[in-house]
Order: sequence, then structure tokens, then C-alpha cells
Amino acid sequence: MPMIPELAVAVLACARIGAIHSVVFGGFSASSIADRINDSQCVAVVTTDGAIRGAKAIPMKDTVDDALIGCPSVKKVIVATRTRTPVSMIKGRDVWWEEEEKHVTAECPAEEMDSEDPLFILYTSGSTGKPKGVVHTIGGYMVFSAYTFLNVFQYKPGWVHFCTADIGWITGHSYIVYGPLANGATTLMFEGIPTYPDAGRFWDVVDKHKVDILYTAPTAIRSLMGFGLEYVNEKDLSSLKVLGSVGEPINEEAWNWYNENIGKGKCPIVDTWWQTETGGILISPIAGITKTKPAFATLPLPGVQPILVDENGVEIQGNGVNGNLCIKFPFPSMIRTTWGDHERCRTTYFSTYQNLYFTGDGCLRDEDGYYRITGRVDDVLNVSGHRIGTAEVENAINMHTGVVESAIVGYPHDIKGQGIYAYVICESMVHDEDLTRRDILATVSRVIGPIAKPDRIQFVSGLPKTRSGKIMRRILRKIAEGETSNLGDTSTLLDPSVVDEIKAGAEALR
Ligand code: PRX
Repeated sequence: MPMIPELAVAVLACARIGAIHSVVFGGFSASSIADRINDSQCVAVVTTDGAIRGAKAIPMKDTVDDALIGCPSVKKVIVATRTRTPVSMIKGRDVWWEEEEKHVTAECPAEEMDSEDPLFILYTSGSTGKPKGVVHTIGGYMVFSAYTFLNVFQYKPGWVHFCTADIGWITGHSYIVYGPLANGATTLMFEGIPTYPDAGRFWDVVDKHKVDILYTAPTAIRSLMGFGLEYVNEKDLSSLKVLGSVGEPINEEAWNWYNENIGKGKCPIVDTWWQTETGGILISPIAGITKTKPAFATLPLPGVQPILVDENGVEIQGNGVNGNLCIKFPFPSMIRTTWGDHERCRTTYFSTYQNLYFTGDGCLRDEDGYYRITGRVDDVLNVSGHRIGTAEVENAINMHTGVVESAIVGYPHDIKGQGIYAYVICESMVHDEDLTRRDILATVSRVIGPIAKPDRIQFVSGLPKTRSGKIMRRILRKIAEGETSNLGDTSTLLDPSVVDEIKAGAEALR
């Protein structure tokens, strides 16, 4: 569903009757929706006829219909009206939200549930295979989203909270719906995009609704920085008390711009680190209490015990150190299982290092003991704050006719944080590279959704592989980053000459 009130209503209605919800971001393809429906075996889908994105109308029901061709578990589809676009309604299966609403009373006693019953499943990408369904429970998740909302933002009764995320992601679950509402806060839902009708949209919302807490992603800040201050300065932002950042590392320049131009130097910035799997914020300043430092998530919240380990899982003690970020003890909202496959949960998160939850993130602990998340250390990309598995994108590209193999790596991108770089081997010489690129992008959109489209596609005749057939992503990453020397040891490669060809191709592409 798009970001309309009916989405929050649907989520809360599920919680009330004891049904498990699984919100799917509106930008995913029919095939991604089908994968999620089939994995969860859900029985009902709630959607809209269409959605509005900037100046564009986007079909929703059509996409759901395409998905449902292969989803026998779904018995009912509830369609809320948003765009009034014509849709096909299947007899016996599809009903209109507005019609059904007329037949139910406003009274609906809450179903009594166990605190450990599942509240929702949210699918997220990992380094291998298809997205997995992260399961959160009723008690722990609600307690922790409420506790962190209240404490991290130092929410005061009467404040208006504006989180710019989409409810299709965990940030929207925890800090648009559950956390704020459990505290009785007024929470804003934003259906638009930050740049439509102009780059002043966020500041407009803040001004119009006298927003107290603004919680957004570094990508949005970096993008809006580029439009200059005219859009900011014409708006009254004096209602703001606390600013938040989430989803990806925030660079110092963006932090400072946010602080000076949006917070006018008076609003504490909480750089909140957490994950779909953690359900709520784990490392973050407490607004106005923790002394902040640009680009640092600073300190763990009370009860949270982060540790840094080396490759062998040995704890790195002391300060001024770098390592892999793990969590030592459980906390209320930690992932309980991956839907339908508990073993996958165990191996993904709890087997890399013994007796520890491994986050997949690299992290620095500075001289003051402050934590700075440096980014993923596994094959997961963070593009505009969205988690994208390299294996998923590779699988999508490999489905394209004529493609033999592909390798995806991330590279630094000024606005998105990371861009997606694809190295692609085709069966025969590509005659019209631009056309083939476009076709590959169409395939990725069709298989996953537009958010997974590579920013750069380089056609290559081979990939740097070890004698055992493993792709040396380290080399591909360096080339994508523009590094031409210092590629490290290439002597273990099956065919070292392929590296020169890739380097030359990358330069030509740039
Ligand atoms: O790499 C970290 C990054 O986002 C990942 C989690 O992504 P997701 O499950 O989609 O949840 C995003 C919203 C919580 C993490 O493994 N990340 C999240 N917050 C930060 C961050 N990286 C740096 N600083 C942050 N504040």
C-alpha cells in the first residue's frame, strides 16, 4: 500500500485481531510480492487501486494481480481507493475497503495474545538467497519500540513526530506506527517524495504541522543539500526540537548541514543505529543528554551490550579500535526467527561468532568509547538507506537472456551512499551496449523492483576468480571505486589478465 492512513489502520487492525502482518514496500515487483506471499502463506492481501508518486500515478492492484497468479494461499483481497484507476475485481476474492467498512461495527475487542506470539514478519535482504522473513513478537517488540521512541527522542506529550520513512521498512513500523502510537504521540504519515513539487517539501510539512521531531535518512539530507538553502530558509522550522538520522552512515558534511540549517544549531541530532532484525534502536545518542559527535551513533542504549570482534571472533578490547559489530546479550525486540526456517536464522546471525549476534556491520570505537558504524562487511549493499543483497541482484541480471554471469559490488555514491555496480558477462559480443543496459535494467525492475536497478553496468569477458572458482569481489570493489593501482595480490587468480581488461573498461565507462 502507499503511505495512506489505511495502511496504518490495516497494520493496527491485524495486531488487534491477532493476525500477523507482513507489509511489502509499494515499490516491489509482482514477483517480489509473490515470493513474500508464498513464503509467509498469507491468506489476505490489502492493497489500493493505485498510488501516487510525485507527479506519477502507479498501478498497485495490477501488480498485486500479477503476483497473485502464483499465490494459491490468498483467499481475499481488500482494495482501498486511492487513485480511482480502473482495476479488475475478481468475484468472490476481491472486495472494496470502503464497502466492507460499511458492514462492520466500530467495536472490536482486542484478541488476547501471548507476548511471544508473532506480531509481524518483515522481509529483508541478506548476503545469500532470497529475502528472509524477520519475525518480531508482540511483547518484546512493542516494549522496545515504545521505550526507544520515548527515550532516544526524549518525546514530550503533545509533540508532533515526523518520520519520513515508508511503513514498508522497519523504520516505518517502529517509528511511524508502533513506537509513537504506543506513547500516544501524534505521528505524521508522508505520502509524497522529498522533491515534489519542489525540494522544500519536508520543510513545508515541518512548517505546516509544527513538527517537533524530524527523523529522516542521510540520503534525503544529501539530496536536499544539493538544492541549496532557498527552499529551507523560506520556511519556519522553529518548532523543531530533535533531529534524527537512520538507515546508513551519515557523513560529517551532511551531519553539519542538518545541524546548522535545519536544527539551526539548537536541536540535538540522534544518529540512530539499528536493523530490521533488532526491531528498535540499539546504539544512539539520547537527545539532549548524550554529547554528540558528527557521524557517530555514539553509545549503546541502556541494556544493550555491543562488542567488537576480529575475524576469529575474539573480542577487541579497549578504545581506538575497529572490528565487526556483535551484540552480546539479548534485548526485548531482537529477531525471534526467520519465518518458516529457524535454522536459517541461527546460521545467519548466531553462527559466525559463537554465542554472539552478528550484525553484519563494521564498526569503529574511538578514543572516547563512541561507536561509529562504518558499513556492511558482508555482501549486502545499502543504497539510499535500502538494504539490497548482491546475490539477489545478480540472480535477477542472470535471468536476462544472453547473460552468462554477473557480479555486483557497491561503490561510493554522493547521494545514495552506495551505488550498485554490475559487471556482466554476455554470451556474445554486445553490439549496442546502451540498449542491452536498458534491457537488463528492465529485467531487474521486473524481478525485484526499480530500487535494485544498477547505477552502472560494465560488460566484461571474464571475472577475477580464484582457482577454486570464487569471485574476488575485493578487486571488483576497488575497480568500481576508481582505484587502479593497489589492487592487492592478484597472483592467486585463475587468469590475472582479466583484471587489466576490467580496469580499462571501467575507465572507459567513467
Ligand atoms: O548497515 C547498517 C545500516 O543499515 C543496516 C540495517 O538496514 P535495515 O535492516 O534495512 O534497517 C535500516 C533502518 C534501521 C545496518 O546493518 N544502518 C542503519 N542505521 C545506521 C546504519 N549505518 C550507519 N549508521 C546508522 N545510524
